[in-house]
Amino acid sequence: MKIYIKAEVFEKHKTGGLVVGSFESKKAEGLVKVIDKRLNGLISKLFKDKDFEGKLKQTRLIYTQGKLPAERVLLIGLGKEKEFTIEKLRQASGGSSRAVKDLGLKKFSTTLAQVKVKNASVYDISKAVTEGAILSLYDFTSYRTEKREEIKRVDEIALLIEKENREIKKGLDDGIKISEAVYLARDMINHPANTATPTYLSEQAKRIARKSGIKCKILNKADMERLKMGALLAVARGSDEPPKFIIMEYNGGKKGEPPVLIAGKGLTFDSGGISLKPSEKMEEMKHDMAGGAAAICAIKAAADLKLPVNVVSLIPATENMPSGKADKPGDVVKAMSGKTIEVISTDAEGRMILADALTYGERYKPKAVIDLATLTGAVIIALGHHATGLLGNDKDLIEAIKKAGEKSGERVWELPLWEEYEEQNKSDIADVKNVGGRPAGTITAAAFLKKFAGKFKWAHLDIAGTVWEYNGKPYVPKGAVGVGVRLLVEYLKSVKES
Ligand code: BES
Ligand code: MN
Ligand code: ZN
Repeated sequence: MKIYIKAEVFEKHKTGGLVVGSFESKKAEGLVKVIDKRLNGLISKLFKDKDFEGKLKQTRLIYTQGKLPAERVLLIGLGKEKEFTIEKLRQASGGSSRAVKDLGLKKFSTTLAQVKVKNASVYDISKAVTEGAILSLYDFTSYRTEKREEIKRVDEIALLIEKENREIKKGLDDGIKISEAVYLARDMINHPANTATPTYLSEQAKRIARKSGIKCKILNKADMERLKMGALLAVARGSDEPPKFIIMEYNGGKKGEPPVLIAGKGLTFDSGGISLKPSEKMEEMKHDMAGGAAAICAIKAAADLKLPVNVVSLIPATENMPSGKADKPGDVVKAMSGKTIEVISTDAEGRMILADALTYGERYKPKAVIDLATLTGAVIIALGHHATGLLGNDKDLIEAIKKAGEKSGERVWELPLWEEYEEQNKSDIADVKNVGGRPAGTITAAAFLKKFAGKFKWAHLDIAGTVWEYNGKPYVPKGAVGVGVRLLVEYLKSVKES
């Protein structure tokens, strides 16, 4: 897909489809007013009859019948002007792009980069319009062999602006790079587990690293044994797919500057293991590697954007399967840190593999550690599908992630991580157990990880509720969201040298 900037007055712009935004109003205003005049009051009539009111995401298609060089105008509602935000602009851009795609148009132009947003720069605006458009047009078609010609695809989008501007161009370029990274994450997650194995993830990581100038190293099972990654190996034991430990390093910051460490759960299929999950919806557990996908794709975006920070991504990748060799409830395993873990449920495997990733990460003496994982069903009970759970041991890091959440539109919500919760993870025979009971399942899972995060500044993102889109949102089609990539990029942008 090609997306570019074009400086031209929209009344003179020739296109099959022109997207124009309108705030909630009783009459035609701004660009819409100009169009209204050319169309002899047609839009005024729409407003009067309440056929279009400018409500957020509302659309209305108009044929201009030769009265404008644009054959069609698609009105997109922006909602109340006073309540308008960058996230709403992103949604309006997504919603209108999808509407154009559904019409079957291959090319269109949008005027949304000319909309004003309070407290936002022209960079923020063009980036949001770009992200909204590209992300909304994502389609996962790898496995469709029938009727492929019926798949609708937009291949050209022009952002119409009044005049050329470097910041607007930068917003477009960054928006493209970030969206590309999100596409890659969505692809990895949408691929079924018989494609997206730990080996596949490691191959993808190597390919991405090569293209983006990132260092990449893959540890195999023998390396894990040598490093005594007993928790990761216990989870991998039941699977015939060899586990992989993916290490990616991007050095955009000063030499010797401590890196930000990202650890992502790369569980390519979670059957639950011997603590087998019910078969209903088990197919969803192909997305249990979404934290890993975010870790791979966020570091890619950081490299493509040339962010001035050092970043390391660690992705423990394995399946969780039952077999005669699988770890069993009641087993005690020794993690890489030396701590012993009593396995209460083999289905609480995410925290096990992340424990060893966090210990491995100590060697980097990171300035901050962020892990992402589809860790607990409990976070869906707590927050539903609208926010990622956030917990950690450092106030400043948590605040910085919250800010990044607001900016990126990938919202997070903090849960407490008081010491009292640690009680629930106490084992009678080992240092810790991997399940702390039903109450506060998301928090006790984080409390478990905290034990392995050592003395580093650390935050944990539970993305189990935000990883998958069930209905389709303006710029998130049904399926993998690619959650965490944009959040992490926004966070990495805010990281200062120490
Ligand atoms: N991968 C799951 C968590 C999950 C659930 C992700 C639903 C996405 C949607 C995780 O490994 C898991 O099974 N967690 C258990 C933990 C329990 C055994 C303490 C859970 O949440 O039930
Ligand atoms: Mn599980
Ligand atoms: Zn899992």
